[in-house]
Amino acid sequence: MNFTGAHILSINQFQREDVDRVFAVADQMEPYALRKRVTRVLEGAILGNMFFEASTRTRVSFGSAFNLLGGEVRETAGFENSALVKGESLQDTARVLSGFSDVICMRHPEAGSVADFATASRVPVINGGDGANEHPTQALLDLYTIRKELADKGRSVDGMSIAMIGDLRHGRTVHSLGKLLSLYDEVHVVLISPAELALPESIIESMRSAGVEVTVSHEMTQSLADVDIVYSTRIQEERFSTKQEADLYRGKFRLNQAIYTEYCQPNTVIMHPLPRDSRADANELDIDLDDNPNLAIFRQTDNGLLVRMALFALVLDVADKVDEFSHEVHWYNSRQRPIKS
Ligand code: CP
Repeated sequence: MNFTGAHILSINQFQREDVDRVFAVADQMEPYALRKRVTRVLEGAILGNMFFEASTRTRVSFGSAFNLLGGEVRETAGFENSALVKGESLQDTARVLSGFSDVICMRHPEAGSVADFATASRVPVINGGDGANEHPTQALLDLYTIRKELADKGRSVDGMSIAMIGDLRHGRTVHSLGKLLSLYDEVHVVLISPAELALPESIIESMRSAGVEVTVSHEMTQSLADVDIVYSTRIQEERFSTKQEADLYRGKFRLNQAIYTEYCQPNTVIMHPLPRDSRADANELDIDLDDNPNLAIFRQTDNGLLVRMALFALVLDVADKVDEFSHEVHWYNSRQRPIKS
């Protein structure tokens, strides 16, 4: 894959060597993400950060990643603050915004919308989540995290097993992650969901044809015993026609420390793309897991910064110049303190 000037819209674009390239550049970003050094390699560049659907970490992570490379960020958040509410087309919006920006990140509630937007954009577009379709940068940061967590345990992505739990029908992160895992060898994926919220059959078929062993289950606890990774997800309430329909599934698969202790291997890694729904009727990932050292959810978000910095550096063709435009940090650095639960 030639990253320079490329849109990043789907995991389908990636081969394994492309993923390796992203991860190698992400590794190089660590001193900058940890504020040990500052780089100005993207000085003068502007990111158009266009989020037409709710987001905390993806939006801020893209913006922070661009800032950490020395670039500036301009944002729109929500339809109500954009001219889309006046009937402007996505293509016209793309024509306009790509005149102001050097790269655009976009989230939109409709599947395929970011790709439509990209057709009219004069600059690279990165998909920050398009409806229930895909969330490719989340999958890359998830796999980057999985790779690091398993390496700490002397394991690799090849030969690993993962349980994906929850709303696998609407959860775009598991759609992208399932596709991404298909690039690896001897991977076993256990899909745990209510029957109505199963992973789309087309994705299961493509995973199986790529050699992934896929097991489908509607029961959680007994399926956790042999997996390296538990990847919990939220019921995607915003994709249901009514809240009452989403309520039928909320709270069906809850992981807490007692269940973890009884059913998981002692070193099983716990992941979640976040946000976790911490309301009492959902609580798919209990806060009593926060002191569990295998809880990787905040390492995922930290890793997201590295992966997104890497994608910007590759797409704007500065991956080999980041150190050249860098200098030391002179201010107090509080980044070394561990995350408090
Ligand atoms: N994981 C993720 O996409 O989170 P946000 O919705 O907060 O961006």
